[in-house]
Amino acid sequence: MKYVAIVGSNSKNSLNRVLANFLAKRYGSDDLSIDVLSINNLPFYSVDDELTPSQEVVAFKQAVKEADGVIWLTPEYNHSIPGVLKNAIDWLSRVDKVMINKPSLIMGTTPGFLGTVYAQMHLRDILFALQSPVLMGNDTLVGAGHQKLSGSDDVTDESTIDWLDTVMPNFKAFVESH
Ligand code: FNR
Repeated sequence: MKYVAIVGSNSKNSLNRVLANFLAKRYGSDDLSIDVLSINNLPFYSVDDELTPSQEVVAFKQAVKEADGVIWLTPEYNHSIPGVLKNAIDWLSRVDKVMINKPSLIMGTTPGFLGTVYAQMHLRDILFALQSPVLMGNDTLVGAGHQKLSGSDDVTDESTIDWLDTVMPNFKAFVESH
């Protein structure tokens, strides 16, 4: 089985990328690959370019197409998802529409207390437009992320790890049911 983890941040010090790297480290195995994708080099989506996309767009869409499931790691910007993430999603939504029936799991971390809850609600609605089924009831809201994540790939908070240990098998079952 293969997942991609899409980090919705273009920050060099992204907390959400740390969380994605942790998922790959802890849950990746011979039976499950988790590839952390970058959206940093995607150009702005334009309808003028969608039939002749850049190599970055082609590779990004191909990686998502080949995945059995997508894990979204979204920051929260002004109570929504960052523009760079919306841009990536707009590319995925067009031409070959690689998100149709592709199972999604939403996570997010922020230094704030509410753990990206507003951004996740928006992301869920956007994925509805792409016809991607989203795992419900497994909300992964990592507030105070600057105190729970460290280095490039570590979660240091035991209760967060316990929660992830519950969510990841739930997502696997969800993916297998599609
Ligand atoms: C933020 N941040 C933020 N946090 C939050 O919890 N709710 C919010 O509405 C916002 N809004 C917001 C707007 C803008 C323009 C910036 C730059 C930041 C803080 C944000 O969540 C924090 O910088 C995270 O660390 C971003 O995620 P990455 O890039 O570290 O993965």
